[in-house]
Amino acid sequence: MNKPRYYFINERKHASLDFATMGFDYLACPWRFEAVFQHGIWRVRGIVEDTTMHLPEGSQCLHYGQELFEGMKVQTGADGKLYAFRPLDNARRLNAGADYLCGPPVPEELFLRGVEEVTQANAPYVPPYGTGASLYVRPFYLGIGDNVGVKPASSYVFRIFVSPVGPYFKGGFGPEKGQKFRVSQYDRAAPHGTGHIKAGGNYACSFFPGRDAKSQGYAEALYLDPQEHKYIDEIGAANFLALKKNTLLTPKSTSVLPSITRRSLMRIASDLFQWPTEERKIALDELDEIDAAACCGTAAVITWIQEIHDSDRKWQFPFDERWKKLYDKLVGIQTATEEDPFSWRYEIKLG
Ligand SMILES: Cc1ncc(COP(=O)(O)O)c(C=O)c1O
Repeated sequence: MNKPRYYFINERKHASLDFATMGFDYLACPWRFEAVFQHGIWRVRGIVEDTTMHLPEGSQCLHYGQELFEGMKVQTGADGKLYAFRPLDNARRLNAGADYLCGPPVPEELFLRGVEEVTQANAPYVPPYGTGASLYVRPFYLGIGDNVGVKPASSYVFRIFVSPVGPYFKGGFGPEKGQKFRVSQYDRAAPHGTGHIKAGGNYACSFFPGRDAKSQGYAEALYLDPQEHKYIDEIGAANFLALKKNTLLTPKSTSVLPSITRRSLMRIASDLFQWPTEERKIALDELDEIDAAACCGTAAVITWIQEIHDSDRKWQFPFDERWKKLYDKLVGIQTATEEDPFSWRYEIKLG
């Protein structure tokens, strides 16, 4: 039997932070997890302290954007246990990105081990149950090396840091907090490009459209499909959902990030609530016929869309109780106040 590499002594005293009022901001926790890929193998460095990374100046991640990241949450359940939510799906999404960016996959076992160890090491920073805050887990993947040519790296760093966070959208999140979004005239990702993977470059490209929307008083930019600018793609770092009569709709597009939250909500709707669900193209014009709209993601959970503005059109959507129903079920599964029929909770044991 493998001996443990670390002995985490966890009495779970909470760090003295005001978990209930925190925003979605970085707070340096004491420990991070790191592994390095060199000469064809992943070598686990394990739990490290330094928040600063020392990288070769020619690294592909710095010049050519050979970088990927993930985002997930660890929450304290009502039973006092710590739970990650579907971390294997994050590992698989990261590896879909690694394949596209021509780097080696991170073994799923290594990914999960990292999530577990970094959470265990920083256990006092996991917000208590009922505060609305959670431990945001940020795995990331960098192509590094002494290089100048445009080609994939031969060495990689896989690192995970964590930070306790509160709501993503200012003014709070949750199904009853309406937000306004602006249809962007810019694209976030190219058709048949990298929109479906969580590559850092996609996000640098969203800064300008995001700033444009926010400077006009909107929470974020709503992107249309980059090919025809006719169909809804997604909203900032969240997927789009709509209710049309009794059906839950979500856009089908190759330039949208496949959200794990969306996948979960669609499954809850179809399997637990027996609502019809459809993943298909949703034209912006179809908003005229839609009864309610929301966006979803790890950070946004499920957030009611109150208004969408285009240059010469405006849609208003009422709050719909079904968003609350979906939200309660999802958060209930995540925090163990509900059964977990799909085995989505991933317990991280302390000590
Ligand atoms: C562009 C984009 N869309 C959607 C999402 C939501 O995905 P998830 O539910 O897996 O957090 C994210 C966040 O990861 C994102 O960055």
